[in-house]
Amino acid sequence: MNKADLIVGLQWGDEGKGKIVDHMAQNVDVVCRFAGGHNAGHTIVVDGTTYALHLIPSGVLNPNAINIIGNGVVVSPENLINKELKQFSTLQGKLFISDKAHLLFPFHSLIDHAKEKMRKKAIGTTGKGIGPAYADKILRVGHRVGELKDPEKLTSKIISYFETNKEFFDVMEIETPKEEELLKDIKWYKENLECYITDTTQLVWKLLKEDKRVLLEGAQGTMLDIDHGTYPYVTSSNTVSAGACSGTGLNQKDIGFVTGIAKAYCTRVGNGPFPSEDFGVDGEKMAEVGREFGTTTGRKRRCGWFDAVAAKHACRLNGVDQVALMKIDVLDGFETIKVCVGYEFEGEVIDYVPYDLEDVKPVYKEFQGWDKVEGIREFDALPAEAKSYIKALEELIDTKIGVISTSPDRKDTIVR
Ligand code: GDP
Ligand code: IMO
Ligand code: MG
Repeated sequence: MNKADLIVGLQWGDEGKGKIVDHMAQNVDVVCRFAGGHNAGHTIVVDGTTYALHLIPSGVLNPNAINIIGNGVVVSPENLINKELKQFSTLQGKLFISDKAHLLFPFHSLIDHAKEKMRKKAIGTTGKGIGPAYADKILRVGHRVGELKDPEKLTSKIISYFETNKEFFDVMEIETPKEEELLKDIKWYKENLECYITDTTQLVWKLLKEDKRVLLEGAQGTMLDIDHGTYPYVTSSNTVSAGACSGTGLNQKDIGFVTGIAKAYCTRVGNGPFPSEDFGVDGEKMAEVGREFGTTTGRKRRCGWFDAVAAKHACRLNGVDQVALMKIDVLDGFETIKVCVGYEFEGEVIDYVPYDLEDVKPVYKEFQGWDKVEGIREFDALPAEAKSYIKALEELIDTKIGVISTSPDRKDTIVR
């Protein structure tokens, strides 16, 4: 039986997962998302056309691939129908949504905004309702995609949920939905999504048994993982490899080759510690050249240097077999490139990720920059300084860099 290969983000998200999933999806039969929701924004550029995906897996541009939204995802029907599905004529027979995935309603987004306002220091969430939807799931008061088949029953459950939690909603000034309107919306969700809903666990088991090639697509990044990230400045799901099993119904023995995605520098959106953040002209230049603005919220991303300590930690956490090093072209023309190789912590230099990254200061090593790598498609054609940089990163993170990306375009990808 085939194993499912896996793609995960190694930093704070937006590493370029979409581009690599799309690149690899040209040779696979199935792409399956396992965690997160429409907080994710995966951008794919093919022959000059840009596609922005949030919930739909990045295999959708391979006309022959099946795309699965796994049970670990929180699904906003509103976003899926109104925004994403509209980019495609029809995906019937090409897209499947787990009946066990949890539903994310507009009121989850209202709770998200209200909670952010109440916090002393906001997390800087995407405001999409991700935390509240996962909270409902864990509290066992959430609703699953499978419940869309009975709109009347689901509507009455949601209304009664509002009634029993009236004080909670009153504090946040969130009104109970009007029953008639809610029912109308849920009927509309059913009408538009029913053809995609199925038991995706059985489906993916069947596909693997038929020796189909399956690629599991992670969202967010390791440093945003609810358990292993910079808590509480994280998202509300397990973004690491382990989440791929619980989020699909596969077990660890089903997982094959793991590719970890990392930028040649580092970015983060929202609040929370980011040891190698650069507040000077270099960080500004990365943001400008790398067009570091969020696909989902349009927010400016904070920029800084490659954090080899965090990346090595992420490779171990995820069982990474190879790293895809993205956006190396953004460093074109930098005279000197810094890499964070250690943290100053409680008076000493450490080479591991401690309990709280808030208290560390980066220790840098400097590398000589290069002229231009943009658009290069062969490893041998890279300037010597870029090759040395890649080699040094491989040693620092103790993992092979098997893929190098030199532009947003699918074709500008070096596979070693
Ligand atoms: P994801 O969330 O990990 O899929 O990443 P995003 O799509 O949010 O952000 C990555 C951005 O970088 C997108 O706009 C991509 O088109 C772009 N990108 C991906 N690879 C490269 C690259 O090698 N060079 C440059 N310049 N841009 C890239
Ligand atoms: P992709 O898949 C970057 C960040 C938010 C915020 C924190 C919590 O495109 O890499 P949430 O809305 O999830 O409760 O926000 O997580 N965040 C991301 N940052 N890329 C993402 O997804 C992200 N998804 C969530 O900015 O700091
Ligand atoms: Mg993104």
